[in-house]
Amino acid sequence: MANKTLDIIKNRVSCRSYSEKKVSLKKVLQIAEAGKFAPSGMNRQIANIYVVNSKRNVEKLRKLSLKIREKDCMYGAKTIILVAGPRGDRFTFQDCSCVLENMFLAAKALNIASCWINQFDEFFSTKEGLKVKKSLGIPEEYCIVGSCALGYANDPSALKVKERKEDFIKVL
Ligand SMILES: Cc1cc2nc3c(=O)[nH]c(=O)nc-3n(C[C@H](O)[C@H](O)[C@H](O)COP(=O)(O)O)c2cc1C
Repeated sequence: MANKTLDIIKNRVSCRSYSEKKVSLKKVLQIAEAGKFAPSGMNRQIANIYVVNSKRNVEKLRKLSLKIREKDCMYGAKTIILVAGPRGDRFTFQDCSCVLENMFLAAKALNIASCWINQFDEFFSTKEGLKVKKSLGIPEEYCIVGSCALGYANDPSALKVKERKEDFIKVL
């Protein structure tokens, strides 16, 4: 039986080339709101969502990427949402990952392309990166578990759902 939610889940794909068109703040906030409603370990809600949307701040992140990796790890995206929590807390990775996945699915539901970008915790561990982290108001002791690049695909026809391993699911 057709189900809209399951279709969204099964058709989400990572996008690695974004056009110049920016996603409206209204849609970005709808996506962030979906992250806010993720489950959290013992309902402690320790994940934090940092919506980096202004050109100035997004370019700060891009510059950092270009300097450290000599490439734009955000693939030209004009909005990036960083998800962070206390380093060392036993639920930080789980909580933040739930937030991120909710946001990828919400993006898909709104026809917005997205991708998990993993590099920011590493970038923020450098002297220059720490300055950027502080300038965004992210506490030094927070770990950036991941981030969600948002935008419109340069070539939507290139976004293909990947094959899944045949033995992914084991029924016992
Ligand atoms: C923990 C994690 C880290 C990831 N880091 C990156 C990344 O830094 N850059 C990137 O382009 N994709 C990253 N991805 C996206 C994966 O490469 C992608 O999900 C995988 O290739 C499957 O493709 P799909 O998302 O289109 O199904 C990451 C995904 C996860 C779950």
